[in-house]
Amino acid sequence: MNMTTPSPALPDPPAELAPPVAESAKPARPGTHIRSFVNRRGHITLSQKEALETLAGAWCLPYAARRLSFAQVFGREAPTILEIGFGMGETTEKIALAQPERNFLGVEVFNAGVGAMLRRIENSGLRNVRIIQHDAVEVVRDMIPPDSLAGVHIYFPDPWPKKRHHKRRLIQPPFVQLLASRIAPGGYLHCATDWQPYAEQMLEVLGGEPQLANTCQGYAERPAWRPQTKFETRGLRLGHGVWDLIFARVPAEGSPAAGA
Ligand SMILES: C[S@@+](CC[C@H](N)C(=O)[O-])C[C@H]1O[C@@H](n2cnc3c(N)ncnc32)[C@H](O)[C@@H]1O
Repeated sequence: MNMTTPSPALPDPPAELAPPVAESAKPARPGTHIRSFVNRRGHITLSQKEALETLAGAWCLPYAARRLSFAQVFGREAPTILEIGFGMGETTEKIALAQPERNFLGVEVFNAGVGAMLRRIENSGLRNVRIIQHDAVEVVRDMIPPDSLAGVHIYFPDPWPKKRHHKRRLIQPPFVQLLASRIAPGGYLHCATDWQPYAEQMLEVLGGEPQLANTCQGYAERPAWRPQTKFETRGLRLGHGVWDLIFARVPAEGSPAAGA
């Protein structure tokens, strides 16, 4: 299956299923970005390992610096939702089962999570989910066409609570600017966190991005269609609150849709 459309403007990097990139405390080299994750040699079950070995070929897309054609990847024209950091995939599975008319592209770096999601796809007979195991920042930058996404889900991104780690948080102005440019006008960006200082940062960063408009006054109610995630359950057990934010992509200034 040809899953990508060639983009002559971009160079061809190795198109392997990229494993998580080893991380160190060193500052990023010029031209690279600070990653929002560290290499985790966490426990992986035999079932997840087997799923990675036997099912990745069917449901994972290799990272490549080429723009995707969602119609080719999913074999149909349908609104496509990007989820960044699906963890063990239980929320992705529930939402994708409840919304069969939409495509779900999940990006995750964690081996056990990708294995678990592959198992879910197989067990639930999901046909509207694809996975890219790679840094979401590079996936968004290199593979997602501008103005193409119906929505983006970022549920409980790593909060990096220590001040010296704040630079690792995913929700930062340059990435949000890039991400917003990939959302179709009228599409949405839905974030949730259980870490209040990160919620405040999200509100500030999303509120400061001119391509986005808040759909609520401040934080949003959790929509009924967003199930409680695994990470959220852990946070609630620790006595944390939960903050949802739902912003809409506004038409680019000067475009006919903007009324200019
Ligand atoms: C705290 S967990 C939350 C998982 C899940 N969304 C939940 O609510 O249970 C954050 C996840 O994001 C993933 N992640 C962090 N940075 C990422 C990146 N740049 N690209 C892809 N995945 C990333 C991590 O591996 C981790 O599984």
